[in-house]
Amino acid sequence: MIKLSHPHGDKLDVLASRGRLRRLSLPNGVDLSSNDYLGLARSPELAARLIEALQRGVATGSGGSRLLRGHHEEHEELEAEAARFFGAQRMLYFGGGYSANLAILSTLPQAGDLILYDALVHASAYDGIRASRADALSIPHNDAHAFEATLKSWRQGGGKGCPWIVVESLYSMDGDVAPLADLAEIAERYGAFLVIDEAHATGVHGPNGRGLAATFEGREDVITLHTCGKALGAFGGLVGASRLMCDFLINRARPFIYATAPPPLQALAVREALALIQAEPQRRKALQDLAAFANNKIGERLGLPTSGTQIIPVLLGEDGKAVRVAEKLQAAGFDIRAIRPPTVPARTARLRITITLNVDQEIIERMVDQLARILEDER
Ligand SMILES: Cc1ncc(COP(=O)(O)O)c(C=O)c1O
Repeated sequence: MIKLSHPHGDKLDVLASRGRLRRLSLPNGVDLSSNDYLGLARSPELAARLIEALQRGVATGSGGSRLLRGHHEEHEELEAEAARFFGAQRMLYFGGGYSANLAILSTLPQAGDLILYDALVHASAYDGIRASRADALSIPHNDAHAFEATLKSWRQGGGKGCPWIVVESLYSMDGDVAPLADLAEIAERYGAFLVIDEAHATGVHGPNGRGLAATFEGREDVITLHTCGKALGAFGGLVGASRLMCDFLINRARPFIYATAPPPLQALAVREALALIQAEPQRRKALQDLAAFANNKIGERLGLPTSGTQIIPVLLGEDGKAVRVAEKLQAAGFDIRAIRPPTVPARTARLRITITLNVDQEIIERMVDQLARILEDER
């Protein structure tokens, strides 16, 4: 038999030799790694509302693209309700935050425009930028001055198109917060659009859980992304923008046009989740208290800097070490995952600890003690 040579196996071997081979593993142990911040993914209240919706005949599949017969009342109702809640001029519901980011950035910036993106933006934004016809420059993380200086020199150098500033409000792997007020002011001064990915802030931060960009939402030059698979415990991505930009996305965004629309039942789940977070602000308060407790414990017991938010990275540097420490925590019953390059920059492999309402103070305390012992052994 002829043996076919495939480069793929060799490439996987290289990943393995660098400690970067990934394998799928089911949730095991207590949740200290999911983005189900408010514990809604298994909420009995949401489940009951979905069962009732199913019994009323709400469809489990949309049957086609939003531009064809896949557009349903539940999509319209969600988009109207979400626009009211977040304060956006209009909202569009996508089948996931990944495709929403891909759609925004591959569609809205035009040839001759310049995209300035924070060096730590999520892969979905990066992929959208790569697919765009605009030029793009990476800006050092959270450096508002660098955004401004780059914009200025581009304009002085004859840049005529529209600039686009692309950031996350709360960074997914670092848990730190963008200087949004400065960036919004820079955007206004330079006639730039400001694209804010609220994936990890939606439902958790800002007034009523409307996100950290709530005060800028609704501005003509601001585009937001509120993902629905994290604190909202559901699935999808809501893009908030002006009516004009939403019309442009409907007409031109390939991930919107050439994809089956999200199930009507899913749109309804998001609407119910939005209703729940408004009805139960105590969830947000409980999460904030628990996150503060975890940050203090990690800071005190491990002597490490912490983010202050519900995403707490513990930087370990070397890939192998991050995997080893994560495995030891998992063996002790704590589901904490190692995050390695290329998801994070080289030499910054880390544990990404997330605080959700799926755990309590006692669990966090035990986890921090265990982590302290493991790190001691690693020395
Ligand atoms: C910052 C950020 N943006 C976008 C996404 C993509 O969203 P989704 O998981 O809904 O596709 C994620 C999730 O991984 C994220 O962390």
